[in-house]
Amino acid sequence: MAAGGLHFLVTAGPTREPVDPVRYLSNRSSGRMGFAVAQAALDRGHEVTLVTGPVCLAPPDRARVVRVTTAQEMFDAVADVLRGGGIDVAVFAAAVADYRPVSPASGKIRKSAGRLTLELERTPDILGNARNGFGFRGVLCGFAAETEDLVERAREKRAGKGCDLVVANRVGGPEEVFDAEDNRVTLVFADGERELPRMPKREVAEILVGVCADLVAKSGHERT
Ligand code: CTP
Repeated sequence: MAAGGLHFLVTAGPTREPVDPVRYLSNRSSGRMGFAVAQAALDRGHEVTLVTGPVCLAPPDRARVVRVTTAQEMFDAVADVLRGGGIDVAVFAAAVADYRPVSPASGKIRKSAGRLTLELERTPDILGNARNGFGFRGVLCGFAAETEDLVERAREKRAGKGCDLVVANRVGGPEEVFDAEDNRVTLVFADGERELPRMPKREVAEILVGVCADLVAKSGHERT
């Protein structure tokens, strides 16, 4: 395995999409997986820029931390970092909201009789823009959280978004991994899969950092 010296960009945590000044749409991501990747990369002597949504975790010492709230803010922060160059590996562990309210209310929405309908629109796809939008040429790692057809969907995501690998998680079942200490993942590469047993996120992160560093060494990826 390569021994240190690379620069990792890691995204982590959920995003929050405002509904009104006091409410938002979000998800159950704790940020643990992304923070563990950041820590594991630092432990191996790599440099880390961590772009994180709102989480309750203390960021690893020595990481450069960029805090964001919405998907749009995460998109802008990642665009800045990748366009700035110098990143060798980008790991997109964030659980970015796919939809946001079209027009968040400027004042608090008051309840009234009957139903309330929120109109939602898509957020920008950050990972999907890494290659063509931001011109990133390094090793690109996405995550796929799926309730069914895990590997098949992760393969499609990998190819569709130009990733070198996708970390596929099964979510929503008896072995819930969201907001948990452990994770059970399958690494999906262009030329096959590697299934890992259930293990602490810290160990998944250590393996992932090693795998990404190996891919940099193998491919001779140029810095952007
Ligand atoms: N991602 C991103 N920007 C978004 C949405 C997701 O960068 N707006 C990244 C996540 O960090 C993760 C991967 O894309 O690495 C997840 O891919 P995505 O296609 O969004 O997965 P799902 O949300 O599970 O997609 P779908 O609901 O279409 O299966």
